[in-house]
Amino acid sequence: MLFEGLELVSALATLAACLVSVTLLLAVSQQLWQLRWAATRDKSCKLPIPKGSMGFPLIGETGHWLLQVFSKIFSHEALQSYLPKIRLVIQDTLRAWSSHPEAINVYQETQKLTFRMAIRVLLGFSIPEEDLGHLFEVYQQFVENVFSLPVDLPFSGYRRGIQARQILQKGLEKAIREKLQCTQGKDYSDALDILIESSKEHGKEMTMQELKDGTLELIFAAYATTASASTSLIMQLLKHPAVLEKLREELRAQGILHSGGCPCEGTLRLDTLSRLHYLDCVIKEVMRLFTPISGGYRTVLQTFELDGFQIPKGWSVMYSIRDTHDTAPVFKDVNVFDPDRFGQARSEDKDGRFHYLPFGGGVRTCLGKHLAKLFLKVLAVELASTSRFELATRTFPRITLVPVLHPVDGLSVKFFGLDSNQNKILPETEAMLSATV
Ligand code: HEM
Repeated sequence: MLFEGLELVSALATLAACLVSVTLLLAVSQQLWQLRWAATRDKSCKLPIPKGSMGFPLIGETGHWLLQVFSKIFSHEALQSYLPKIRLVIQDTLRAWSSHPEAINVYQETQKLTFRMAIRVLLGFSIPEEDLGHLFEVYQQFVENVFSLPVDLPFSGYRRGIQARQILQKGLEKAIREKLQCTQGKDYSDALDILIESSKEHGKEMTMQELKDGTLELIFAAYATTASASTSLIMQLLKHPAVLEKLREELRAQGILHSGGCPCEGTLRLDTLSRLHYLDCVIKEVMRLFTPISGGYRTVLQTFELDGFQIPKGWSVMYSIRDTHDTAPVFKDVNVFDPDRFGQARSEDKDGRFHYLPFGGGVRTCLGKHLAKLFLKVLAVELASTSRFELATRTFPRITLVPVLHPVDGLSVKFFGLDSNQNKILPETEAMLSATV
């Protein structure tokens, strides 16, 4: 009896300890998230963090006008106009990877690729390649220190983060000013053009500080998440050659890849991509099993009840995307990489609104999700049609989840081109990009 009593006390103590640690963990992570804004935002910036959210302040501006702007930035027409540019950046990158004599670090390289895509395509900056490389290094320093304690001491992470932000903002200001002066020779409107134009239309012309903060946040939202998903995509195609082959079959059937293996000439359009159903399943499955972001935070605006538990107003709550995907009853064999689960015959994601949410859910769902999916699809099409790639290590690396999901050593892969041109970097690519962007 005494023994049972002791067991109960010990179980209760463990439960209490767990609850305390979870609460502490939540409190600390919430604080860190809030500190992020201390480190990333300039004090002169007046854009408020939206009520109940710890999300991206830019989008939370009152009056919903910014939401309308974002719906334009990621509209079907806008995506169609970004598509050839995204493809060019990806093709150029794959050529560079294939020409590299050694294996490349895929996670590092996809970070450069998404940064390049954000700067060149989304923001339309024509920064010379060398300056872009420097900006990328500074950006990495900024991201590494985003979650640092706000102690402004020499050599502290916080100081390094602030310094990186200042350099970045200088670079961005220069690029924005150049862009505002030179609008000729462009064949499409990028996200920054749309932001500037629409803010004028809504009578809210944005200050230079707001523009710099806005662009920095757009890059922040796009960069690590898309690099994480791109790396996971490459890793899964390496792990599952049958999936890659099935993808190639689909590309052949749709006339994107010749039966001999080389890619067909011609432009890739959004409607062509939307006919590639298996491709869609592959991307969905990568995002289910390897969701880049673990979850999101919210501040409770109104007391509510969930499964018999009362959640009081003012509390911070976190919703877990990863746990949702792991426990959702709609997915069979949750740990198996199986793109066909999203195929027409099974459609495992069709039941329930909140079982599958790699891009979050509700009113603060990811605004760049269509762009992210488009980028991943083009990357998969180009990989399947123009590249051969092999794992350069004996085993696949371990995965870590922080700050976004990625392989511990970055994933070492050797790329080879499929045709004779593949190993050459074409000088005209750069010229084409700067002429159009
Ligand atoms: C695979 C890539 C991506 C993933 C997995 C992803 C995921 C997410 C998630 C889960 C959220 C919601 C966070 C929350 O609930 O608080 C979010 C928000 C957001 N994402 Fe993405 N994202 C990706 C790419 C992008 C891209 C490319 C852009 C834009 C260029 C973007 C822009 C945003 C913005 C602006 C928000 C804030 C929405 C708001 O607060 O209302 N994302 N993203």
